[in-house]
Amino acid sequence: MSGLSDSFQRPINYLRISVTDRCNLRCLYCMPSGGFPLMPRHEILRYEEVEAIARLAVEMGISKVRLTGGEPLVRRELPSLVDMLSRIEGIDDLSLTTNGVLLKRYAISLREAGLKRVNVSLDSLNRERYQQITGYDGLNDVLEGMEAAREAGLEPVKVNMVVMRGINDDEVLAFARLSMEAGWHVRFVELMPFSTYGATLKFVPASEIQKRILSLGPLEPYPLSQGNGPARYFRFPEAKGTVGFITPISEHFCFCCNRLRLTADGKLRPCLLGDEEVDLKKPLREGASQKELRRLIRQAVALKPQRHRLTEGIIPQGRSMCQVGG
Ligand code: 5AD
Ligand code: SF4
Repeated sequence: MSGLSDSFQRPINYLRISVTDRCNLRCLYCMPSGGFPLMPRHEILRYEEVEAIARLAVEMGISKVRLTGGEPLVRRELPSLVDMLSRIEGIDDLSLTTNGVLLKRYAISLREAGLKRVNVSLDSLNRERYQQITGYDGLNDVLEGMEAAREAGLEPVKVNMVVMRGINDDEVLAFARLSMEAGWHVRFVELMPFSTYGATLKFVPASEIQKRILSLGPLEPYPLSQGNGPARYFRFPEAKGTVGFITPISEHFCFCCNRLRLTADGKLRPCLLGDEEVDLKKPLREGASQKELRRLIRQAVALKPQRHRLTEGIIPQGRSMCQVGG
């Protein structure tokens, strides 16, 4: 196995697979207010197709796979896809990003199917505010879902909080405190601009969040790599959990980008924040050879841009986050 690397010598070993563009929430920053036209079902890859692509990608050097959406748990029988993927030799990390609303129902079957761990998106600990942000009164479901995941051994459960000025930034202390009081692994995510919501939402730089939470105590860098991504981790003394920062805006981390994305309708996306795509579905359905599919995967890797251009005002126009999966 030679492994994949792009034109900037970055090793590519991580594949994020979006399994659906559907979602049971309507987060402010993700879904345009008028909703998004949904992909017709026949455009969405069947599990066998996802498995076939994942198998090839793993043969070529992918070793980490994450399932995303939309909300992956609204896709029927997700545990059976997890089961299929967990049998592929060469995947050493199989994880899921979810909004957590349905996690309680699926935690055990996901674990039994071979899932290793979950990241839960949670932007508020206040019930009314959670509903304002997501359009659904689901905070309790999410908290129960996280607990169920922990009990099922889907650990570490990580919490992603997208921080928005004037909307939930007053809660960063409460989230940080839970890394001490409840062992949570919290990651503060800088809001990325998408064309779907314009300039109505404002990001808060990680440096500011860090300064604010320092009022809880000193932060020690937590060097152990906890994932496959760009988060930088810290810990309060004696805390069981950690806090992390994901800084796509204030400090882009493209230089260590290791990922490819597969959309629910079978396009490989070299970059989350670029509009470039390579279609795999059509060739796959038309019976393309493994050799041809490999060539397309290599092509997508070769198309990875050096870095995103958000700070220069170049923002993706094509898909919303719910159609890429973060
Ligand atoms: N900026 C930052 N994070 C986002 N997410 C969705 N949209 C954005 C955005 N514009 C996050 C979700 C979830 C993950 C898939 O991506 O909260 O945690
Ligand atoms: Fe759904 Fe995730 Fe988008 Fe929120 S961010 S609407 S949970 S896909």
